[in-house]
Amino acid sequence: MRDEPGTIGEALRERGISRRALLKYCSGIAAAMALPASVVPTMAQNVAASRRQSVIWLSFQECTGCIESLTRSHAPTLESLLFDVISLDYQEALQAAAGHQAEEALQVAMKENFGKYIVVVDGSIPLANDGVYSTINGHTNVEILKEAAAGAAAIVSIGTCACFGGVGAAHPNPTGAVGADQIVTNRPVINVPGCPPMPEVIAGVLTSFLTFGELPEVDHLKRPKAFFAETVHDRCYRRPFYDQGKFARSFDDEGARAGWCLIELGCKGPITYNSCATIKWNEGFTFPIQSGHPCLGCSEPNFWDKDSFYTPLSAGRWGSAAGIVAAAAAGVAVGAAASVASRVNTSRIAKEK
Ligand code: SF4
Ligand code: SF4
Ligand code: F3S
Repeated sequence: MRDEPGTIGEALRERGISRRALLKYCSGIAAAMALPASVVPTMAQNVAASRRQSVIWLSFQECTGCIESLTRSHAPTLESLLFDVISLDYQEALQAAAGHQAEEALQVAMKENFGKYIVVVDGSIPLANDGVYSTINGHTNVEILKEAAAGAAAIVSIGTCACFGGVGAAHPNPTGAVGADQIVTNRPVINVPGCPPMPEVIAGVLTSFLTFGELPEVDHLKRPKAFFAETVHDRCYRRPFYDQGKFARSFDDEGARAGWCLIELGCKGPITYNSCATIKWNEGFTFPIQSGHPCLGCSEPNFWDKDSFYTPLSAGRWGSAAGIVAAAAAGVAVGAAASVASRVNTSRIAKEK
């Protein structure tokens, strides 16, 4: 069957991207979202039959790390998503247009796709002093976001800055930075935190919207459950060492060289919800802990302010062991949380000896 003119299927065919590649892409997304393999053909069919989704990407107080995370990801899967599956109608860092032409492109995209486009936000939004700390073409970030959100089908906040304020909101938060959901309250908002967020998760959320016509199910922080239901600790390959009470005490001791658990070096994996330990980074090659560094908790709110990145959980302001258990219990089985408690206590006691 030929693809209908103007559909994603036709666009992919014109670019020489085979149906097999689309199936492979959908398989990857389905696997990452823990969907059964049986949905892959339907998912691919729905994507191929869809029109390219209009996306307006607004960058506010950010470091460009989030867009780098997506565009530096491996081809053809995510590059295809960016340029073929979605219609990226406005993105300052990637579009050729600048100045007034860029502003015109934004207005045209909002008008032509009113009620249907997705607004992707990266970076926090400053509210202090009427938002003067970040403006584009004389308009504050909050004004731009409100205008774009008025015609959006949904808002996708990319990165911890756009979700929770991130580094901009770190103490003393001089610009009054907040996440997008503090401003947009009358449209569906989904948070994809991480500093930066995982490209596969961004792709999964957008593809899910294309396939099912709605955003995926979210948790209490508006994060897609498919990617944020488990902690890094739940799926960490160093977990057996944690369970055995084998902890690295410095970055160059025998435990570190043997690949033991990094909790005594400040690992926040037990209270950090993200998919790093399963999907991993750089084409599934590694993630921070596999590279020998503790998880910093980069997908959690206020992670910059909760203490030194290298302070062990049980000693820092992340909370008491009991608090850590409560946090863990919110999303994982009670048994796993109890294990966290006992090991955090064990770890602390061992250190104090
Ligand atoms: Fe940069 Fe991290 Fe903020 Fe993204 S979330 S804009 S990578 S500081
Ligand atoms: Fe892995 Fe960190 Fe958990 Fe240790 S504390 S098992 S390094 S996530
Ligand atoms: Fe961030 Fe921790 Fe993953 S620091 S990248 S959530 S391992």
